[in-house]
Amino acid sequence: MIDSLPGTAPEATVPWRSRHLFDVDQLTRDEIAGCLDLAAEMRSLRDRGERLDVLHGRALGLAFAEASTRTRVSFEMAAAALGAQVVELPIPASSVGKGESLADTLRTLERTGIETVVLRHPSAGAPYLAARSCGMRIVNAGDGTHAHPTQALLDALTMRDALGGLDGRAIAIVGDIGHSRVARSNIHLLTALGASVRLAGPPAWLRGFNRWPGVTVTTNLERALAGADAVMALRVQRERDAGSGVPSLAEYSRRWGLDDERMDLAGPDVPLLHPGPTNEGVELTAALAAGSRSLIGRQVQNGLAVRMAVLALLAR
Ligand code: NCD
Repeated sequence: MIDSLPGTAPEATVPWRSRHLFDVDQLTRDEIAGCLDLAAEMRSLRDRGERLDVLHGRALGLAFAEASTRTRVSFEMAAAALGAQVVELPIPASSVGKGESLADTLRTLERTGIETVVLRHPSAGAPYLAARSCGMRIVNAGDGTHAHPTQALLDALTMRDALGGLDGRAIAIVGDIGHSRVARSNIHLLTALGASVRLAGPPAWLRGFNRWPGVTVTTNLERALAGADAVMALRVQRERDAGSGVPSLAEYSRRWGLDDERMDLAGPDVPLLHPGPTNEGVELTAALAAGSRSLIGRQVQNGLAVRMAVLALLAR
């Protein structure tokens, strides 16, 4: 059993300055690289069947006020793999915008001895309110359209593995950029690691993004894909009123949906990512999702390793 962070020199892992994780823009390049290295190390330790008890005796609460499969399960598995006790917290989803009830619930739960809360909430900014309302550590697992930092970290690890590094790479992100917290966190993280980002989609979903350094915006899918080193497809966020940005999903799929033929514009071996859940037949074909370029399964596996690394770094 290992009860300290793995690595030949654990102290060499760059410690995080913040005790919360709101978004990746709070992390330095060294903090990001250290987290990805630690995640890769945790992945190999797990593959060898080693236990890591760095959170032994700690309690972690999962507060998901929005649907989630991958993120919730992998945080739960990550916390358990580090020896923490995991509790599901009853967080109100109904009073979106009325921050008080979220704050009240968290203050009450804090008295039970929970130290860290993994929060998913439909309101952008909810994690900041949560951190101001209680003394618990807050980990953002997705807040409205704002940020999804652990998704961006697992995407970066997956792309780093596939491409050998991200510096100087061109990453195309295709689809509903405007409503996507995944896209926002990825733009911060990829540009911080030296990659350039090409955003492509219908004009209504691209507004305001042309002001980000390192980012180009186009409504021309072919131009976004040509020469890209990796391509990320995004789900149309219908629950966030994305449907109003396109005439119909069928029309979106015809113009923007990814298939093997369109991916060939990037290159024969260029990898495809998608945070899930996928809507096959809309943003990508079932054949592409299941095919040899798809890293979707790797993303899910890396989600566990990245969340273990994040929880360990925050708990130090
Ligand atoms: C993403 C999310 O919730 O933002 N999913 C996820 O965490 N794997 C993307 C999405 O829902 O489309």
